[in-house]
Amino acid sequence: MSGQKRHIGITDTTLRDGHQSLLATRMKTKDMLPIAEKMDEMGFHSLEVWGGATFDSCMRFLNEDPWERLKTLRKAFQKTKLQMLLRGQNLVGYKHYADDVVEAFVAKAAEHGIDIFRIFDALNDVRNMQKAMEEVRKNGKHVQATICYTLGPIYDLEYYLKMGRELKDIGADSICIKDMAGILSPYAAYDLVLALKKELSLPIQMHTHYTSGMGSMMYLKAIEAGADVVDTANSALALGTSQPATETMIAVLNEGAYETGIDLEQASLLAEYFKEVRKDYEEFDVYKAGVDVNVLRYQVPGGMLSNFISQLSQANALDKFEAVLQEVPRVRADMGFPPLVTPSSQIVGSQAVLNILTGERYKMVTNEVKNYMKGLYGKAPGEVNEEIRKKIIGDERPITVRPADLLEPQIESAKQEIGELAKNMEELLLYILFPQVAKPFLEGTSTAEESQPKSVAKKEEQQVEPKPMAVAPINTNLSSGVGSAASFAANRKNTRTGGISFNFNGKIEKLKISVDGNGYKVDTGKFDDEKEEQEEQNNEIPSHDAKEEKEAPKVANISADSTVTAPMPGKIFKVILSKGSKVRQGDIVMILEAMKMENEILAPMDGTVGEISVAEGDAVNPGDILFKIK
Ligand code: CO
Repeated sequence: MSGQKRHIGITDTTLRDGHQSLLATRMKTKDMLPIAEKMDEMGFHSLEVWGGATFDSCMRFLNEDPWERLKTLRKAFQKTKLQMLLRGQNLVGYKHYADDVVEAFVAKAAEHGIDIFRIFDALNDVRNMQKAMEEVRKNGKHVQATICYTLGPIYDLEYYLKMGRELKDIGADSICIKDMAGILSPYAAYDLVLALKKELSLPIQMHTHYTSGMGSMMYLKAIEAGADVVDTANSALALGTSQPATETMIAVLNEGAYETGIDLEQASLLAEYFKEVRKDYEEFDVYKAGVDVNVLRYQVPGGMLSNFISQLSQANALDKFEAVLQEVPRVRADMGFPPLVTPSSQIVGSQAVLNILTGERYKMVTNEVKNYMKGLYGKAPGEVNEEIRKKIIGDERPITVRPADLLEPQIESAKQEIGELAKNMEELLLYILFPQVAKPFLEGTSTAEESQPKSVAKKEEQQVEPKPMAVAPINTNLSSGVGSAASFAANRKNTRTGGISFNFNGKIEKLKISVDGNGYKVDTGKFDDEKEEQEEQNNEIPSHDAKEEKEAPKVANISADSTVTAPMPGKIFKVILSKGSKVRQGDIVMILEAMKMENEILAPMDGTVGEISVAEGDAVNPGDILFKIK
């Protein structure tokens, strides 16, 4: 033991996960450039600047070309390594792509400046990471293979060691422990890192979110056990759902046995800049809780909890919140304990909501759960409940091969489809990854900027999930109301209020939650009795019965001249009737996809469909005109 201090690397995530977590992935390239030179001088191990949701968000919301962002940042950062988050075979999307797409994507990302590729799979299925890892290696870049950390009966030290060995065998240069929910405790981290370090002798990098408040303590114990690099965000965009603060970790790690090579005085200059930038994104800056106690209590990502509130409020069933929270671990057990990260968190979460709302478990399942049970997402980490699987997919045998082995090459067929519009491989990849968004973007007709509903792109990686959860009823009985897709239809009020009881240290507190197009607001305090009674009624599963009729006069989005407007932010999924169609009151005119559920928009009266103001794929805000009835 000499007096030599151990170097701890700092990866600054401000330009990717920091603003993805706190500002709904909205930071524009122009706000990154003025500070780039200073950041580049700092001595960071690397900067995470790309991947995750940033690729999608650039096109969808900012009208920016994600490839241009990468090229621009590469030019701006001359010294520091750039890093990206890659979802294995899902790349930066939400489903598996064929191997030729993985090859092309990794090659282009490497060419335009990514040095370190952090690769993960939502099921920790190494087969879904293997192709991307191979390609990164082929392009001469650093392969950081990721272990998603989660809790559950199958997740013992041996599970993680086995996965670590597999990743090392297929070419990992380093290992990332990804604690996406912020549930890795300091002592568990110590044991985990110590064991992995001893077994693998590879560099280990820690990633967490501060939601539970344990993040910086966890980092310190992980470092004591041998972790080499930690992910932090600039203090102006740290804590809450983001990472621990860069400056705090520098201050702590420039003492004692460690050094970071980064000067705290210099680093503190960055915060002055980012504080100002953050102000410009105030409308997306909605997370105000310091610590989300529910993450500690339920050990699910914070993003899932707010998704439940949205989904339940749409179904007018906020009183089912606790029931849904209790259903989550049961669904997760049925599915073989997948980690809760994009996209598995949405798959488990939506199914838990359906199981509670329909009153019968798996009476309705999302297409995603069907595909999961068919093995199309990969191998479940634990044993799937075979009885439930049979209920969902019948006698069909789940696949046992790597899911992407079943995919035909995609590049040539995409070329045929898009034709001249994609001028190079970069643009073709935009189209393959996000066809609906890329087409208007490439045509120059994107209405992305400033036109998006805020709540569509929530913070947290787990939440950014524009893909719909199509609801596939097993008992096709759409008219029965309960247990059908129609249960989720006809949410035509703009603001809803409901109550949730929380148990704080044994004391039951009631929270009042109001939901409107801009998200939700939580107030403490009592409801008056009359209000409470009314809520109780509203919280029943909506169906096409007398109650629905009774509520009709209160419906806010049908104006006197029979103009029907959007009740909530979302996207037009399907326009079913066209101008001139005869309709009866209650006929389905179009389907609005919001919060991953399909919502039927019904004709408010008998008549003829007039002007239709939206097209399939359009994003709408509450109050936007959808169609008229004459
Ligand atoms: Co993250």
